[in-house]
Amino acid sequence: MAKHLLGLKELSKDEILKILNLARDMKVILKSETKKTPHLQGYSVVTLFYENSTRTRTSFELAAKFMSANTTSISVQTSSVQKGESLLDTIRTLEALKTDVLIIRHSISGASHYVAKNCSFSVINAGDGMNEHPTQALLDMFTIKERLGRLENLKIAIIGDIYHSRVARSNIWGLGKFENEITIYGPLTLIPPYIEKHVKIATSFKEAISDKDVIIDLRIQLERQKKGFITSKYEYYKYFGLNDDIKDVINERTLIMHPGPVNRGVEISSEIMNLPNCTIEEQVTNGIAVRMAVLYLCTRKEGTLI
Ligand code: CP
Repeated sequence: MAKHLLGLKELSKDEILKILNLARDMKVILKSETKKTPHLQGYSVVTLFYENSTRTRTSFELAAKFMSANTTSISVQTSSVQKGESLLDTIRTLEALKTDVLIIRHSISGASHYVAKNCSFSVINAGDGMNEHPTQALLDMFTIKERLGRLENLKIAIIGDIYHSRVARSNIWGLGKFENEITIYGPLTLIPPYIEKHVKIATSFKEAISDKDVIIDLRIQLERQKKGFITSKYEYYKYFGLNDDIKDVINERTLIMHPGPVNRGVEISSEIMNLPNCTIEEQVTNGIAVRMAVLYLCTRKEGTLI
């Protein structure tokens, strides 16, 4: 049976740790001169992105290449999707093309689950609508563990557009399994209903960012902002942006994270991005190691992980 990674909601703490521990070994390979392992030799890995991406798509492709897979990237903008081909027919076509692993990003929540139910190959969710972005949260968790030496008993703030954010949801599911205190803060229009069952909601920016081990700043999803969720980018930056003023409030050891892409001067200032405890580029590098680990585990015949 094919093994999938569709979300962190359904993974156990041990399964998450297994991925993160393997990612540590993969990072050693990444630092080696050849950056090459034979683990995916003979496998066909396909990326199919219905939404734009730089980090996720490139790091999955590099991860698969470093592991000796045959890789193909389908650009939806130039594929037969534009001629009206359905998702199901695209899946059938990829099966006929002998795909072993499909990495899919789609604007509809649940799209990767739908594909996994209707195919014989492994499916990895690279972001589905507002639902989950599991490998982003895994690389965030990897970065936290590497920097702080632990994944539990942490005070974590997630700031910004929580409502539209699949990164926030995957981090809440993932980090929430490790006895952490998670606090969210953002414009009230961008706080999803019933989220208080899973996290604390701060009542001020100062409360949200004070005394935290980690701040995860989110991208304001301008492409999904057609309903007037925020008044203006200027006001967003003033009230919710990580700018120089936060230096007086945050602990100097607080990790400042962002999944990217960043809207500079809207979510975060260039000066904050240049701080040594801001891990934005480190997260991107760690993403390759984490995705190598996920590709490895999804293609092993033995065991039931993922
Ligand atoms: N963080 C993230 O998913 O970035 P991309 O959209 O560039 O893949």
